[in-house]
Amino acid sequence: MTKKRILTGDRPTGLLHLGHYVGSLANRVRLQNEYECFFIIADLHTLTTKPSPADIACLADNARQMVLDYFACGIDPAKSVIYLQSAVHEVCELDLIFEMLVTVPRLNRVPSIKEMAKSANLSELPFGLLGYPVLQAADILLPRAHLVPVGKDNESHVELTREIARRFNSMYGAEVFPVPDVMLGEVPTLVGTDGAAKMSKSLGNAIMLSDDAKTVEKKVMGMYTDPDRVRADIPGRVKGNPVFVYHDTFNPDRAEVEELKHRYTKGKVGDVEVKQKLARALNGFLDPLRERRAGYESRRGFVEEVIYDGTQTMRAEARKTLDAATKAMGLASVWNRISRKAEEAKKKQRAGGSIGQT
Ligand code: TRP
Repeated sequence: MTKKRILTGDRPTGLLHLGHYVGSLANRVRLQNEYECFFIIADLHTLTTKPSPADIACLADNARQMVLDYFACGIDPAKSVIYLQSAVHEVCELDLIFEMLVTVPRLNRVPSIKEMAKSANLSELPFGLLGYPVLQAADILLPRAHLVPVGKDNESHVELTREIARRFNSMYGAEVFPVPDVMLGEVPTLVGTDGAAKMSKSLGNAIMLSDDAKTVEKKVMGMYTDPDRVRADIPGRVKGNPVFVYHDTFNPDRAEVEELKHRYTKGKVGDVEVKQKLARALNGFLDPLRERRAGYESRRGFVEEVIYDGTQTMRAEARKTLDAATKAMGLASVWNRISRKAEEAKKKQRAGGSIGQT
């Protein structure tokens, strides 16, 4: 039986953090044997908020760092297709086809778009940013993926992708696209170290997967906890407390976590101890990632070669999908009919010599 497919990926904005891990990367690693995996380096998506030459100049190195993070997490370069979005031009054609199947009011209801505009300080919405989730639908459906492991903020984009797939199939009377399922991570949205709803590099509240042990310790010691607990002997709140959210997520020593929670709610443990134990747990989790990252980092040109090969594979896949889509639409036959007649005429002219001219 052929394997089902995953497509997911990230914008190459730099290093990835713990939120990416629990939101999507853990699922990718877990499912990489069960599924045929396609991972997109979504550089075209970065243009929606960062189109300047200076921004574009960072993309190649950002892509490299991001893929090193993939490998650090345990994504196996031999098992997955990792490719550069902007080098697979078919995505733009599929994007345009899909643009006809979505309305502007529907896009205006996608919650993440306004948030992205706001955090990029854009007072008015660029056309391309409104179309962000349509391009993402083209990404997902280009390899005809069945499953999309993403964080919570991307859930609405997969929902739109499902609508587009159904719309296309019913409008053109062919099952060209599967209707892909979303898969959210164990922690779909991880809180930031400052207690803000979401860990994000731009908010400065992130622990990066590539942070060294000292940096992790420093970030953890400065973490936001229960604001009402001004002294260690005051009973504290565990629920929603970022320090305990991280303990729950990353500390494999369940007994230690339960014991700390117990003492915390009784006012019998200081923040320092809870945080030191968290820093130790996080560093224990990150150590193997650091080791793998360093191993791949030392192999000159390896990351680039993986992206290069993956992009070639994806190009072939993209061609197949686009041929099937334009055939179902009848669009392919427009050119086919014109070119067939043109070729016939040219052949006649060549065979008949001067006939056409008399
Ligand atoms: N929107 C994703 C992000 O938040 C990046 C992305 C682009 C993506 N295309 C995708 C994710 C396709 C999953 C599937 O960075």
